[in-house]
Amino acid sequence: MSEATLTVMRHKGNCVRQVSVARRADMCDLGPERGIAEAGTPVDSVVGGAPRIQEDEDQRAIGPSALRGKIASFGPFRVRATERLLEKDCTSLKIGSRALDILIVLLEHAPDVVSKRDLMRRVWGKLVVDEVSLRFHVAALRKRLGDGACSVRYIKNIPGRGYCFAGVVTWAEAAAMPQKIAPATAPQLPREPLLVVGRDNAVRELITLLKKERFVSIVGAGGIGKTTIALTMAHRMLAEFEGAVHFLDLGAVEDPRLLAGLLVSKLGRVAVSEQPLPVILTSLRERRMLLVFDSCEHVIEDVAALAETIFRDAPLVHILVTSREALRAEGEQVHHLPPLECPPLTESLTATQALSFSAVQLFVKQVAHSGHAFELTDADAPVVADICRRLDGIALALEFAAARVGVHGVRGTSSLLDKHFRLLWRGRRTALPRHQTLSATLDWSYNLLSLAEQLVLRRLAVFVGGHSLEAALDVVAEGLGPAELTETLATLVDKSLVISDRTAATRYRLLDTTRAYAWQKLTEGGEDARVLRRHCEHMINALERFGARIWAPPSSENIDFFVLNLNDIRAALEWSFSDHGDAGLGAKLAGASACLLLQAGLLLECAAWTERAIGALDNSSEGTYLESELLACFASSIMVTRGNGPHIHTALIRALDIAERLKTAPMQLYLLHALYKWRIRSGDLRGIRDLTDRVESVAKRIADPLADAIAHGFFAVTCFFTADSREVRGHAHIALTAPVHLSKLNLASFGHLHRVRSTLARNLWVLGYPEQAVAAAEEAVHEAENLSHPVTLCYVLMSCVIVALETGDWQRAEKLVHRLSTIATKYELLTYARASVGWQGCLAVSRGELSRGVELLQTALAALHEDGYELYRPQLSLTLAEGFAKIGEQELAYSTICEAVSWADTRGRILELIDLLRAKGDILSSISASEAEACLLESLDLARQRGLFALELRAGISLARLWTDRAQREKALGLLDPIFNKVSEGFQTRDRVAAANLLQQLRSRN
Ligand SMILES: Nc1ncnc2c1ncn2[C@@H]1O[C@H](COP(=O)(O)OP(=O)(O)OP(=O)(O)O)[C@@H](O)[C@H]1O
Ligand SMILES: [Mg+2]
Repeated sequence: MSEATLTVMRHKGNCVRQVSVARRADMCDLGPERGIAEAGTPVDSVVGGAPRIQEDEDQRAIGPSALRGKIASFGPFRVRATERLLEKDCTSLKIGSRALDILIVLLEHAPDVVSKRDLMRRVWGKLVVDEVSLRFHVAALRKRLGDGACSVRYIKNIPGRGYCFAGVVTWAEAAAMPQKIAPATAPQLPREPLLVVGRDNAVRELITLLKKERFVSIVGAGGIGKTTIALTMAHRMLAEFEGAVHFLDLGAVEDPRLLAGLLVSKLGRVAVSEQPLPVILTSLRERRMLLVFDSCEHVIEDVAALAETIFRDAPLVHILVTSREALRAEGEQVHHLPPLECPPLTESLTATQALSFSAVQLFVKQVAHSGHAFELTDADAPVVADICRRLDGIALALEFAAARVGVHGVRGTSSLLDKHFRLLWRGRRTALPRHQTLSATLDWSYNLLSLAEQLVLRRLAVFVGGHSLEAALDVVAEGLGPAELTETLATLVDKSLVISDRTAATRYRLLDTTRAYAWQKLTEGGEDARVLRRHCEHMINALERFGARIWAPPSSENIDFFVLNLNDIRAALEWSFSDHGDAGLGAKLAGASACLLLQAGLLLECAAWTERAIGALDNSSEGTYLESELLACFASSIMVTRGNGPHIHTALIRALDIAERLKTAPMQLYLLHALYKWRIRSGDLRGIRDLTDRVESVAKRIADPLADAIAHGFFAVTCFFTADSREVRGHAHIALTAPVHLSKLNLASFGHLHRVRSTLARNLWVLGYPEQAVAAAEEAVHEAENLSHPVTLCYVLMSCVIVALETGDWQRAEKLVHRLSTIATKYELLTYARASVGWQGCLAVSRGELSRGVELLQTALAALHEDGYELYRPQLSLTLAEGFAKIGEQELAYSTICEAVSWADTRGRILELIDLLRAKGDILSSISASEAEACLLESLDLARQRGLFALELRAGISLARLWTDRAQREKALGLLDPIFNKVSEGFQTRDRVAAANLLQQLRSRN
């Protein structure tokens, strides 16, 4: 016995569809029990195989042929009538039993015409069949003979008369051939799939379920692997069912009325009535068996009815169904087949990790199958993971992509996914027609949809990510009622074209490839423009409902919506600012989403969209809240990513002006906060007192604990920079203990008050408490690390590096600088990344790596000047000057320190000026002792006036050294000793160690 496949090409209009009817044909034994097709249908009979039934003699078809014992040869073909064999070039060909009968009869009479009636009588005996069956089998015969190809035609239709054999036949006597004995229960199954990845559990569980429940449907998207699993199961269950496993590929059945006939033939039975179901049931009740109905979606109603009846009336029969849509039949257990597993999006993924996911395994194996040596490397692993994710783990899509790797490489294939090319990638030549391309796979489903379903599917392609029912109702409903749309959406889910995720609030989404397909259909129909506009308007309306403001904390619903719809918001922004879009809508959408982008840390994106939106504002938007929100978000995002340029100041002033006119005090507070930040970052601290006062007066108008804390925080920072250090602690304490959790303002937007925390640490150092300063800095960094707010963390790291450098803890400083550089680079916070280079320079100079340090400092100073971020310029310039001095470049050292002193002096940098004067004194000590002394005395004096003990100690050490070098040891001792006596902690920090050494030296010489 062997599996025979009869194929006929049916021409339907322009479309040619291949129809295959699987059947078994005994190639050697023309037994009396040939099955007979249901009258009036072209379904072929099954010959041989158990169970068999004895036919009535009347129902036998052709009797002993005149060809018995002879061999007929024509072209490359030979027909051995006795053995019922058709050979081509000495190789036997599969051919259906009826088709062979027709050939034998025509050969017998060649070149005479045999009438259709005679032909049917000879082939079907007394069984009544119609001409459709005859035509069907003649077509099958012609196909087998390659009739018509290469202008050879063996079987000719003579209109109105019948058929004849038109070739040249020669005859010979046949030698006896040994009879082949067919096994009684040969499996009637297509070949078991050779490669099945990642489905072991599913197969096991489904087998258990099928044994227990008897009726299981595997449901899922096209190409996901339903048939692969069903076939694997069928083979594994052969023993369980003693060979009685029948696989019916319904994909080829166009006419649902053929179903029962197909089943009859599969069972090796004869159906003589137009109602074969009772015959089938009689047969099915006799024996335990498994019926596999594969690819049922297009004949779903008829399969549902048939399966339901069999399930109910034939309790020994188990039914396995594969379909893109569940049958919804009584007794059916639906198993929704998930896609193959894809690696989640992670920061790093090795090849070994990637290969633990079945989608990647399949992809890699398929690349190898396509004939290319391929080993997944760590470098390619994230790209392959991305391909798998974007193909949603659909086996067929992965197969197509894998086949492209040989030509385009992994990265090339990945980049092609962006385009819609993937729909046209061709698969295996031997695959089912609907598996030749992804487009064909989707055509199969799409063509089965109603017009309304097609319409909704096309329009849904506008959503980039998942979407809610409300969103669908809003965006795609045009021309459809809500009830109709809801129902249509549900049917699309049923048909595996839309995925519904019921984990939280139900969300719907199209698989990526389905979306690409539907999008193509949408654009082909020219419907995209309207739908894109609706989509953008929906995003605006949805976001505006939440009323997000830069100064207010977003509601959790707002955050959820934003996170879930981020890709759609991006797509809508992209469209609105495109040539075919509407920039006015874009400005509104940017205004409604900018603060969320900012708070999500997507600063570059925020800067880009708000900049475009500001450029698109028309007269009607001038002076509106929208304008001030856009300006505020633009300024805040660009300040740390692109630099602190004057245009940001202009934007903030304009936004503040609008906020003042609109009398929105919280917005004014935010903008004053941003202006303060801008000023501090610029390094020019003139005017920060005024700003602090303005903040205080606005804060008083807002009865809010955070507003109050912000005002005190500003006072603390201002006092620190103006060297009023003793005032800092009180203000900082009020700010940091305020009940800010009761605030209606957004703590994150105001930097979490971390400016205050890190200032407090630095202030402790200048006041002479290095140990407390280190502890406070540690705490500030620790807290900032827990905030998931990169900008705040960078700010805190920036100022806490200073504490480590000032105390001489190089290791700690190195760690902080490294962390700063990592975070700044990762989040593209350009100004902090550049600043970290400056700290690396300071560290190098401090450790004696002088030329490297000098180079880094010069680079950083130039870059930060370009960025307008010059808050730390005094420290960096000071160290650069010291570096020059240490490598013997006295002139450069001198000019650098002089420039730094005058820069600080003219910009209100009182605090830094004190230490700069000390450094200038040190540098001058080898040039002019008196000028050096003057500088050091001035530094000492300022430090004492302000109570800045750390700076007093530093100036004292330098002065004592100068005097020691000038043989004024007593004077030096008299200066340094009392200063050192005031040291209360931090004896291991660098200045204290230096002072102690110098004192010891001075005392020992005395
Ligand atoms: N687990 C798997 N391992 C390896 N290859 C697979 C796997 N699943 C599916 N394939 C391959 O993917 C292609 C599509 O699989 P299959 O025919 O089973 O899909 P299907 O879900 O039945 O599709 P359709 O809905 O069109 O009937 C086939 O070439 C098959 O060999
Ligand atoms: Mg299938």
